[in-house]
Amino acid sequence: MEISTYQKVFEKYLESIIENEQNLEPRNLYDPIWYIMSIGGKRLRPVLTMMGCDVFKGDINSALPAALAVEMFHNFTLIHDDIMDNADLRRGKQTVHVKWDVNTGILSGDALMVMANQYFEFYEGESFKKIIKLFNETALKVCEGQQMDMDFEKSNGVSLSEYYKMISLKTGVLIGSALKMGAIVSNAKDKEANLIYEFGLALGIAFQLQDDFLDSFGDESFGKTIGGDIVEGKKTFLMLKTLEACTPEEKLKLLSANSTNENEIERIKWVKDLFKKYKADVLLKNEIDFYTKKAFEYLEDMKMPSEKKLILNSFGQYLMGRKI
Ligand code: IPE
Ligand code: IPE
Ligand code: MG
Ligand code: MG
Ligand code: MG
Repeated sequence: MEISTYQKVFEKYLESIIENEQNLEPRNLYDPIWYIMSIGGKRLRPVLTMMGCDVFKGDINSALPAALAVEMFHNFTLIHDDIMDNADLRRGKQTVHVKWDVNTGILSGDALMVMANQYFEFYEGESFKKIIKLFNETALKVCEGQQMDMDFEKSNGVSLSEYYKMISLKTGVLIGSALKMGAIVSNAKDKEANLIYEFGLALGIAFQLQDDFLDSFGDESFGKTIGGDIVEGKKTFLMLKTLEACTPEEKLKLLSANSTNENEIERIKWVKDLFKKYKADVLLKNEIDFYTKKAFEYLEDMKMPSEKKLILNSFGQYLMGRKI
């Protein structure tokens, strides 16, 4: 199956859920939830849950509640992440806390997280236990990653290995878990479920690197404000590599992100030029390549028909080339 086919199956399922639940009250709790859930997004994580089920010969329909739960959890993290990152734009639309307010974003996010949990109630017995355990571990790790991300904004001594730990936690583990949940639904062997998790984790690292790249060098189609990471003083791969190579004067100016009054647009341009001057963008592309290849190595070790491996392989290729 093509990625777009999984996406369509998921969208149809989501539409039916929204149709049933869109009138829930109070409106100021639920409207932001259906807003964020229906303004688009690539639906990568639910697609992965369906794929994880499919490649181990499960029925993808049985993976839909888990797929929805994963997408709901992801959207909850986005609502709160946009508050934490002072972001105005998400998927080309106003973020929840801008369209409503911060308090609404906090509570709607919390409720969405609870709703994600509820969709796991669909499963029973051993599968249920495994999925809920994996989900809770994953959710906590995402919080750990998000806290590291916030701490790093204020730190000038972040190492590359700390950065990799942070992005593994905030982004990688959820991608790995989305796949593994699909594997659990189709009763795959633990060894295979763990391999597909590792495959997803490596892809997730490549995915966050690409997100960092697009945050600086993407275009309008990215759907987020370009340069947001620069303005917030995020310690991205681009930033860390540039800090490593630049002059002391440039370093001083780079690290004084929030303390100068200089024009924001000019500053973003200056920082992006510096990233290019020190080839941080080229180095980043190499890293994406490295982690994608690493993911494909896990794929080789997996026991499944080659046409199933091809599905996972083409997903990895698709991620590498993404612009949104
Ligand atoms: C955004 O994820 C958050 C990151 C982990 C970088 P996506 O790029 O998958 O966002 P949507 O769901 O497609 O909007
Ligand atoms: C996102 O990291 C990680 C989570 C939402 C958990 P970012 O802050 O880079 O994500 P975007 O760029 O806002 O989507
Ligand atoms: Mg953000
Ligand atoms: Mg963030
Ligand atoms: Mg980002």
